[in-house]
Amino acid sequence: MEPRILLVEDDPLYAGMLFEALTQAGYKVEHADTVASAVACLELESFAVAILDVRLPDGDGLDLLRTLLELQPGCSALVMTGHASVESAVDAMKIGAADYLPKPFPTEVILLKLKRLLRARRLEEELEGLRARASDTRFVGQSPRVRRLLSTVRSVAPKNANVLIQGESGTGKELIAEMLHRLSPRAEGPFVRVNCGAIPESLLESELFGHERGAFTGADRRRRGMLEQAHGGTLFLDEVGEIPPAMQVKLLRALQERRIRRIGGESEIEVDFRLVAATNRDVEDLVRGGEMREDFYFRIAVIPLEVPPLRDRPGDIPLLAQHFVARLSRIHGTEPVRLSPEALDLLAEYPWPGNVRELENVIERLQVLTPGDTITPRHLPPEVRRVRPATGTVYEVVSTRLTLREAVHRFERRFIEQVLAEEGGNRTAAAARLGISRKNLWEKLGGGSVTGR
Ligand SMILES: Nc1ncnc2c1ncn2[C@@H]1O[C@H](COP(=O)(O)OP(=O)(O)OP(=O)(O)O)[C@@H](O)[C@H]1O
Ligand SMILES: [Mg+2]
Repeated sequence: MEPRILLVEDDPLYAGMLFEALTQAGYKVEHADTVASAVACLELESFAVAILDVRLPDGDGLDLLRTLLELQPGCSALVMTGHASVESAVDAMKIGAADYLPKPFPTEVILLKLKRLLRARRLEEELEGLRARASDTRFVGQSPRVRRLLSTVRSVAPKNANVLIQGESGTGKELIAEMLHRLSPRAEGPFVRVNCGAIPESLLESELFGHERGAFTGADRRRRGMLEQAHGGTLFLDEVGEIPPAMQVKLLRALQERRIRRIGGESEIEVDFRLVAATNRDVEDLVRGGEMREDFYFRIAVIPLEVPPLRDRPGDIPLLAQHFVARLSRIHGTEPVRLSPEALDLLAEYPWPGNVRELENVIERLQVLTPGDTITPRHLPPEVRRVRPATGTVYEVVSTRLTLREAVHRFERRFIEQVLAEEGGNRTAAAARLGISRKNLWEKLGGGSVTGR
């Protein structure tokens, strides 16, 4: 896929010249001539590089740069500064531009800079890909929200700021936490996960802070706590919403002072770790309800990340399904199952209340039950292949990322299922209404996904 470039320039002469040169060099270019239209572009699709003019008719290019880095932290910005203004170049670099270009410049220069930027990006992505493959923990997904999430992860990972990951159960929070570790300078250090929800309150303190021998009955040995074990690496506090407020106070102190004391210990021990926390609960609710202290919340959520539920990114479902099929067959050394297009469609339409974990379990079951075979709708669990309730009209926004054939196919299916549902599952009546034969109807539904008369 050719990299997408956003060109923001209001001078038609410059814009035309650059657009031409970039397009000829093989880039896919989107042009905007105001701040407003640039922001609209950024909200719609993701770009590898943005080339920005500083002076724009409806605002300042440097403000746009800030917005850009907020909306698409993974996008590299090249800022064009007019009239050899050194200050704006310095400002741009301070805000986070990858490079700047004083106007006027020959087009070859911008092409060279662009090439260099893209090469650096590619190397970074390749490295991440290699590391992920080595540990088999790639975060699969191509939807705009996932792309945005991953580019934020890539840009915050190298920093030391505390990250709070929020998202429903099974959305992949732990994978994101591992990715933050892997892409940080602490990657060679330990990644220590504490499941705060699974440790009884009475044990939590010694689990986190450790204890000296004889600190309490049963403490027959000295134990290093998780905070100490995470030294030089990342501490992952999973289910952070389950930590009782009293313990939050102690943790807060440790986070502020970067020192701890084991239970029963005399001296303080220096600890240096990066904190990543995760929860599937609504943190604002927890704070409002007094279950999470506000000061603790502010401390752990310097950078909040949200992993979207699977139903909000149905385009990722087929990708994930194929990913799990491939991985499971590798693990079990069996032939991968094949997923028929109709089965994939149904998987993509199901709302997945258990998110990616539920999808993974379904694929695992299918792989075990039908190795090497083709999965058709009738193999799927009943909740996945259920008939949609009648709502009167078929109103479906088909993603423009589909090919025309796929889109038509998907619409046809919806339409048929809708009519069938309205006929109470009676195929003869549905076929008559659709003006096709019963056999044809049955074939179109993938050979018997729906039971009925
Ligand atoms: N985008 C993804 N690509 C590949 N695998 C994924 C993805 N998201 C989740 N998974 C897999 O789904 C399973 C559940 O993910 P994970 O444990 O990270 O969820 P979680 O958000 O931490 O859930 P919980 O809140 O229940 O702890 C894991 O096996 C994980 O590897
Ligand atoms: Mg988890």
